[in-house]
Amino acid sequence: MTVVRVKGEDMIAVKDASSELKAYFESLSRSKGRDITYTVRTYGCQLNESDSEKLEGMLISFGLKKCEDSIPDLVILNTCSVRENAEDRLFGNLGEFKAAMREDSDRLLIVCGCMMKVKENVDRIKKSFPYVDLVFDPQNLHRFPVLLLQKIKRHKQLTDISIDDYIADDTLLDIRRQRKFRALVPIMYGCNNFCTYCIVPYTRGRERSRDYELIMKDLKDLSDAGYKEIMLLGQNVNSYTAYDKPYFPQLLRDAAEKFDFKRIRFMSSHPKDISDEVIDIMASHDNIEKHLHLPLQSGSDRILKAMNRPYTKEKFLKTAMRFREMISDGSLSTDIIVGFPGETEEDFLETLDVVKKVGFDSAFTFQYSPRPGTVAAKMEGRLSPEVMRDRFSRLLEIQNDLAYRSNQAKVGKTEDVLIEGESSGDSNVLTGRTSSFHLINFTIPDELKIEGYSSNDYEGMMCRVRFTEARPYSVDGIMESFI
Ligand code: 5AD
Ligand code: SF4
Repeated sequence: MTVVRVKGEDMIAVKDASSELKAYFESLSRSKGRDITYTVRTYGCQLNESDSEKLEGMLISFGLKKCEDSIPDLVILNTCSVRENAEDRLFGNLGEFKAAMREDSDRLLIVCGCMMKVKENVDRIKKSFPYVDLVFDPQNLHRFPVLLLQKIKRHKQLTDISIDDYIADDTLLDIRRQRKFRALVPIMYGCNNFCTYCIVPYTRGRERSRDYELIMKDLKDLSDAGYKEIMLLGQNVNSYTAYDKPYFPQLLRDAAEKFDFKRIRFMSSHPKDISDEVIDIMASHDNIEKHLHLPLQSGSDRILKAMNRPYTKEKFLKTAMRFREMISDGSLSTDIIVGFPGETEEDFLETLDVVKKVGFDSAFTFQYSPRPGTVAAKMEGRLSPEVMRDRFSRLLEIQNDLAYRSNQAKVGKTEDVLIEGESSGDSNVLTGRTSSFHLINFTIPDELKIEGYSSNDYEGMMCRVRFTEARPYSVDGIMESFI
């Protein structure tokens, strides 16, 4: 695969297609006598969410309105292929659109995302889901207007799977941000690590870093627009390169020092690459969140080697302990895969040992899922579903206890919380996050309530909250003041 930089002039075709689409949807709206609506469903990781924000931005620029209740005129399913169950979900969901697609021939059903880079999935759509209008993969995201216009003109299913890895200039795309206080900022795309279980290097292509100046321009625009939180995104942010050298520490420092964001977050870090410097920068900047996501995957050196994760249990523990030492009120989260091919009980116990020693504040735990085309999918030593389930539930039990304890340790303290909005299920309760990424549900005493505000109007404001009670996955509290 080659990496192609998409320049301003390359986007002319995209701009032309966008104008034509705008005219097309305007005339469709006139003939139907109503707004033309869309919905975007996103599966998977934050990079997919970021892609969806870009797609939504484009749809809005064509004059479409977000669908609130009825069946939309245009549906985008942005898929994930990291585990098999995410894939199953897509094929289940596609069936649900069959009748709606038959009912109105102007309706458009579009499938994109990582699954659409896997030939078997595209073939299955061609064969079993003829009512899908357009299929494209993440590398082709910036070409969406061109592809959509082609499809509308041609009237038959269009599948367009990229051969090159693109690096598109995001600043040319309108972005529809999901949250009014938080902006997702991709700094790099793709992955070169080829962990043997993982499909991402095949679906998202080789690593390519965005231009430093462009990222800085984005950050300036976001800061000027009043965003409180930014999330620097990449499959492996520590590999970010600028001016031909590793540049993530400098990027993080500049993001913290040159703008006035309240929270700077980043995801994900590879344990082989995260440097002491990054931890030092986190410790010395109050506006960098005190939370590090450091995927362990396994605690066994033997399994880590088979996973092609070039670090050891000891190195991981050293990094984690350094983080705990430098940022005593911080939190560590992780990803763990249970049941990698050939994993023995001893290997699994090594994983539990790391989990207990580090005391992760939270963890995403997964059962190994073979991904066609990856090295591990051909490995021997697959575990039986019973052993897999048994280990998974033992890990979960320990981790749930650790997460609860991490929440308990907050009780009695008062910290800054960035308000995310109304808590699900109770309109009198607000929800937000601490700098350590703990989820807080809290109430506002009557005397602090702002007249005329509903719960969601507080979204994006910062306040001090006193923590009163721990729950398994959150902490309860009472607001003390706005800041
Ligand atoms: N099976 C199970 N979990 C996986 N992950 C990635 N690939 C697989 C797989 N084949 C998990 C890893 C990764 C997270 C995003 O998904 O833990 O960090
Ligand atoms: Fe997948 Fe490994 Fe790359 Fe993460 S670092 S995206 S787990 S190959």
